[in-house]
This record gives sequence, C-alpha cells and structure tokens, in this order.
Amino acid sequence: QLTANIQNYHFNHILLNAAGVMCQTTTELDTVLTSKYTGSVVTKSATPAVRPGNPSPRYYELNHGLGTINSMGLPNEGFDYYMNYVSAKKTDKPIFFSIAGLSKQENIDMLHQLQDADFDGLIELNLSCPNVPGKPQTGYDFEATEQILTEAFAFFTKPLGVKLPPYFDIVHFDDIAAVLNKFPLAFVNTINSIGNGLVIDENTDTVVIKPKAGFGGIGGTLVKATALANVRALRNRLNTTIKIIGTGGVTTGRDVYDHILCGADLVEVGSQLAIEGINVFERLETELTEILTAKGYTSLDDVRGQLKVI
Ligand code: DHB
Repeated sequence: QLTANIQNYHFNHILLNAAGVMCQTTTELDTVLTSKYTGSVVTKSATPAVRPGNPSPRYYELNHGLGTINSMGLPNEGFDYYMNYVSAKKTDKPIFFSIAGLSKQENIDMLHQLQDADFDGLIELNLSCPNVPGKPQTGYDFEATEQILTEAFAFFTKPLGVKLPPYFDIVHFDDIAAVLNKFPLAFVNTINSIGNGLVIDENTDTVVIKPKAGFGGIGGTLVKATALANVRALRNRLNTTIKIIGTGGVTTGRDVYDHILCGADLVEVGSQLAIEGINVFERLETELTEILTAKGYTSLDDVRGQLKVI
C-alpha cells in the first residue's frame, strides 16, 4: 500500500500539498486535509503576526507547463490562527505546522508555544523563504542553521523537521548534511523553490511579477532535476532516522515515483496543485499505482532509494 511513517506518525497516503499552496485559510486547509488522496496537510508558513505579503502580481504560471514564479512575501494569517486551526481539528491525519519567523528569536518563540501547546503533529521549520526583501535564506548559512537547531533542540521534544533550499554543490550537500546529522530531526523537506529566478513576458519585454523587480522563487517542471538531486544527495548523507519529504517538479505519477526512487518517504505538490487544483492528488496516486503495478511492485519499500547507477 501507498503509506509512510515518520517516527510514530502514520500516513495512509504519501502525497500532500507543499507549504504555501492551498493552505493559508481554514477552507483551503480543510480542502487538502479532507481529500481522500492526501496523507496530510502542511499549513502556510506562519509568522508571529498577520502579514499581507508582497504587492501583486506576485505569482505567475509560465507557458507550456514549465512551472511557476512567485514572490508572495509570506502572506499568512499569523501564528495564533494556525494554532487555533490545528487545536480544534479532529482528524486521523498527522498535520504539519510550518513556521517561518523573520528572525531566529521569532522562530524560537513560536517553537516554545508549540512545545507548550496540546498540538500533536509535526513541525516544519522553514529555513528557505527566498521572498522577504532583506532576509537571507537561513539554509544557505550553515553556521546560522546549526545555531538555530542547537537552540531549538535544547528544549523542543516534538517531531521537528526543516524545509531546505536547493543546494547546487557537492560540498554544500556534505556541509548541510553534517550539520543536520548533529540533531534528532524527524524529517528534512527538500526542496523549496529555486530562489530568485527571473521570468520575462516576451510580448512586453517586462517582468511578470511586481516584488523585487521581478525576481522570485521558481517551482514546477523547471526544478525537478534539482529536486531529485537534493533528495538523492541528502538521502545518501543523512542519518536513516531522518525521513525525507521530496518536493519539487511533481506533475505526474512518474515524478512521484522518481522522488521515491531517490529516497523520499512523503512527496509534496506545490506548483501543480496551484495549477490543477485538489484533483491533482487522485490523478497522481492513480498514475503512480499504474507504474507500480506495471513493474510488479506491491510496496513502496521495494522502490524507495532503489535508484540504479551505471
Ligand atoms: C514564501 C515563499 C517560500 O518559498 C517560502 O518558503 C515561504 C514563504 C512566500 O513568498 O510567501
């Protein structure tokens, strides 16, 4: 069956939304959570206070299904809104609560509140938002990453994972894995968008989004190869106790299968969920099942991490 586990949390399906897509309001969160084909939902990355985000247009779909560019700027309803949502929710699915403080202290403060709350789910610390002007991605600063995890694990005992930016250098894979292996992380989620791409409208010679003069995070088909490389490189380097959520470039069942081949336990859908809507999960699960059946596999354990090299 198409199931997965992270620590003591069981997922009856392996697909869910990527943070940021279809997860800002309670209506959107319920849509993903109650789908028959999702294993869970991850909440929009929360900041302590409500944020309207960057000016529009701030999201754009490229032609030919190539992918998306966005510079949302962390629009969210604020930490308390998501805490109220998960506290009131009756569900068998383990929820991921995503946080993205604008400073280390904001993250530590939110982690303290999560530690002290009744919330029984998983926490995703987002170290990779590329879209807030003046705020670098923590995941590209290995010392800052080690520092925040050191402070967090000094008191935090719930299942905690990190959302990482994509890395592009073998030494960087080695360096980030060495930092992450020092901590009892429940999972690593890779990748966030490829930060600060630039898309041009060929009719008008202009940028397609307004914030940051058109620079924004790239997702969808364009990022699949980078996502698979990051899943594979981290699976080969991280402690086996750290599960991997594969995110990036998933538009078909074959893409889900490829993430699993590289070592992913759960697989998230961002751009294609925004483009296609909630029915994407049924289609992807059907396509994945057809591939597994054709290959004669009955369990994802036969596939996970089994990528062949030549
Ligand atoms: C936003 C984008 C991200 O990639 C992220 O991790 C968090 C927030 C945003 O622009 O809202």
